Amino acid sequence: MRPALHCLIPRPAEVTLTEGEFTFTRPLQVSDRLPAIRERLEFFGAKLADDATAVITVAKDKSLPVEGFAITVTSNAIRLTASDEVGEFYAQVALEQLLWIAFAEGTDVAKMQCGTVRDYPRYPMRGLMIDSARHFQSKTVILSVLDMMAKLRLNHLHWHLTDGEGWRFPSLGAPKLNTLDGRQAGCYAAAEIAEITAYAKDRHITIIPELDMPGHSWGLTHLYPELACDSEHPGNELCVGNPKTMEFMLHRLDEMLALFPESKFIHIGGDEAGTGHWEKCPKCQAKIKELGLANERKLEEWFMVTMSRHVLKAGRTPVSWCTSAVMPDGHLFQAWNDVHELMDLAWGTRKNLVLSSLYIPFYMDYPQNAEEPHFNWMTVQTEEMMYDGEPAAHMERELGDRLQGIESPLWTEMVPEWRVKAKFLPRAIAIAEVGWTKHELRDYHDYLRRRLSLESAGYTW
Ligand code: ACM
Ligand code: ZN
Repeated sequence: MRPALHCLIPRPAEVTLTEGEFTFTRPLQVSDRLPAIRERLEFFGAKLADDATAVITVAKDKSLPVEGFAITVTSNAIRLTASDEVGEFYAQVALEQLLWIAFAEGTDVAKMQCGTVRDYPRYPMRGLMIDSARHFQSKTVILSVLDMMAKLRLNHLHWHLTDGEGWRFPSLGAPKLNTLDGRQAGCYAAAEIAEITAYAKDRHITIIPELDMPGHSWGLTHLYPELACDSEHPGNELCVGNPKTMEFMLHRLDEMLALFPESKFIHIGGDEAGTGHWEKCPKCQAKIKELGLANERKLEEWFMVTMSRHVLKAGRTPVSWCTSAVMPDGHLFQAWNDVHELMDLAWGTRKNLVLSSLYIPFYMDYPQNAEEPHFNWMTVQTEEMMYDGEPAAHMERELGDRLQGIESPLWTEMVPEWRVKAKFLPRAIAIAEVGWTKHELRDYHDYLRRRLSLESAGYTW
């Protein structure tokens, strides 16, 4: 067996092994200040004790980095330290992995080689996206994704709540939207959203809710044709030149802000809007003239800038899928197309914050193998391809602190809720290590050995 300290996922920044072994004897006296893993400690015969008698203890150490922690194993104690609550939580998550390895052989007396782990993340944002519009997922599935994310120290769940096929957050002002339905009935109740948000917060995960506009809106324009450019033939785009559309969407945004009071980030979509309807629309053309804009793309930009400013005014950070639009300072662009998009953000004049979600290799809807159901234009994206992905595509220096991290989106056109975990696993584990571990410490074969060690010991994600 490999030493337990060499089995952690994500791979730690620093691991030092030293002479000697810690011997776990039952009952294992564990600090009663380890709430994150308390219920799962029962497997290992743990007995909660105060820090004076416990052999596994936790303490603050302000010298550790943000979200960072240390675990020190000596022959008579295991000591967890962290500078903040998040680090304390991650120390517990890491400790649980160590316990599974230590107890894997099933002997009454388990041992662990002494040493120290000192760890902290590479990027502040490490996340997944789930599309709940194309296929709805029950609360149970969302909570199980949050549980998996907590074990991976992923700290953002981007929740794609609206699209042509579905509108999944309740609207009091436009209740017809709540009847809009993809493949099955469903809209999260306000109480469910509150429960999911609280569950996420307990695991130090921020929810980024998304209201996708002005494209991906054909469901909305069919229910409210007066908000389409051509009410006889409503299409995928909102009529952005109509002041009623602006007013309607600002109200929907306010409803989202109220439902997600804890969300530091609010996503306003912005992807894949066509300009065809706007070119033929008298209202859109009149607005272009009135504002003296160069073209329909600038009209879209004006609409999105208004939405972004509205989010900023509410004290949150607006996010959108990257386009060529010039967005306000403080707006976060989610780069998803290809490396050219990232290059433009690195070398161009726009200085927005950046989140990397390049579809190759980070999109989770792409199949892991050729047998998995998928659209025929999708290529296979294996765990190894994701593991070897670089969020900054080697533009770390140019992007600097503007690069916030990585997010892997799962679009669900072909993914019913019972396949969600199968789509995420094992690739979300690889993504977690990409977001957490420094490039020079990443090694796919070493990662695979650590993953197999943990899973063979009985650890599940
Ligand atoms: C996207 O994949 N439409 C952002
Ligand atoms: Zn129009």
